[in-house]
Amino acid sequence: MQTITVLGAGYVGVTSAVLFAHAGYKVYLIEPMEKRLEIIKTGKSFFYEAGVDELLSSAIEDGRLVPTNDYSLCIPESDVVFSCVGTPDNPDGSSNLSFVFASAGQTAEHAKEGLIFVQKSTVPVGTGEKVEEVFDSADKDISYVSNPEFLREGTAISDTLYFDRVVAGGANKSSVESVLDVYRQLESKRDDIAKIAGIKTLSQKGQYIATSRNSAELVKVASNAFLALKITFANSIAKLADAADADINEVMNAVGADPRIGRAFLNAGRGYGGGCFPKDVSGLISSGLSYGVDLNIMQEAQNENNSMPGYIIEKLNHEFDGGLVNKRVAVLGLAFKSGTSDVRKSPGVAMANILSERGATVTAYDPKANEEASEDLNDDIRVCESTDEAISVADAVIVATDWPEFLDYSFENYAKSATVFVDAMNRFSPADIKAAGLKYIGVGRS
Ligand SMILES: NC(=O)c1ccc[n+]([C@@H]2O[C@H](COP(=O)([O-])OP(=O)(O)OC[C@H]3O[C@@H](n4cnc5c(N)ncnc54)[C@H](O)[C@@H]3O)[C@@H](O)[C@H]2O)c1
Repeated sequence: MQTITVLGAGYVGVTSAVLFAHAGYKVYLIEPMEKRLEIIKTGKSFFYEAGVDELLSSAIEDGRLVPTNDYSLCIPESDVVFSCVGTPDNPDGSSNLSFVFASAGQTAEHAKEGLIFVQKSTVPVGTGEKVEEVFDSADKDISYVSNPEFLREGTAISDTLYFDRVVAGGANKSSVESVLDVYRQLESKRDDIAKIAGIKTLSQKGQYIATSRNSAELVKVASNAFLALKITFANSIAKLADAADADINEVMNAVGADPRIGRAFLNAGRGYGGGCFPKDVSGLISSGLSYGVDLNIMQEAQNENNSMPGYIIEKLNHEFDGGLVNKRVAVLGLAFKSGTSDVRKSPGVAMANILSERGATVTAYDPKANEEASEDLNDDIRVCESTDEAISVADAVIVATDWPEFLDYSFENYAKSATVFVDAMNRFSPADIKAAGLKYIGVGRS
């Protein structure tokens, strides 16, 4: 049995570590942040993600997964190291690779000969070459494989078990095959693991794709950039639909029916957020410039995306004579998407803060992300414990994240105090909302 160490107990690291442990590997999970490590040691994750806690507690209990902060304990006996450390953006939009190089250096210090170092963190193309230089200067025989991560928060376990593709790229072909073998082993156990996690089994057959190191690095950022472009395109057309009295959902349903285009990621709304798209797009722009390539199209997409929370708030502002000052607005949904507690670059948080800065009295609520959002919300925003509490005296309600709890909530109750309903993800039927006596505001659904 091989021993695996996963570096970084974040969204990706925890998910990968629990799945590798349940696939039959002995797994160490290294996390330097004490608070996170202590929570994980109790068999719980610090974030909400369906199925993760079930897999984490059982793997820790029977000793297959060992959380630690000690490189010297686990790297010497590891055959494969998966690096899942954070790659946040710098203030200028470029990727901050300090964790990537620090973790590679710490690994090199303790690695045995022949170690395979797998980069799952999203890094700019060309990073692997520089990490290899770290290994060379430590005089260690470590082979580097780029294995970009495609999981989505909210469906992380399912995405990893029932993947559409696993990409691995590197100069050492046998190391690339060894990395793909880890996923083959995981695939062979996936239905059993899904049952423990309490998620649906699927019949999906994914592809194993071996590439060069640099191609693998570029696959990841190019994929996210393309999806960001699709979302942004839908939002740009939605603004035109608003102005021209068309319905963006009808438009995109028909546009997406063309198989050359596809319907996915053509939902207009408050724009993308999270720990990936915004920083991956800005990182791509910056890495392009470092090679002398101007990816102007991505800068335009980023600008357009950043405009969406303000665009929606402006639409709400128009509804009130005298504007938003002293208007009571409830923002429902603070996670950047449903199914997660992650609030990084969350459009719901952005809208709540814009409202407070424009003089509105803001209440906010999220079923899973209240605690994580509190730090990012302006001080005058009151975080509530339930939908009922948040909307109890509101003049307007904004559904910023499409949690089932908000989609299934009674429209009549939304209308108890509020007169205006903002559907920031275009998930409601305007007719139903109007029937409940509310003025409906969507994005591109005038
Ligand atoms: N979150 C996602 O949905 C997602 C999806 C695909 C790819 N990615 C990419 O995966 C990477 C990780 O993302 P995340 O969301 O899990 O990040 P995160 O910030 O939640 O977690 C990263 C963890 O790495 C730890 N860390 C920092 N330095 C370390 C070191 N030297 N050794 C060990 N651990 C260290 C941090 O303390 C942190 O807990 C990023 O590059 C991200 O772009 C994320």
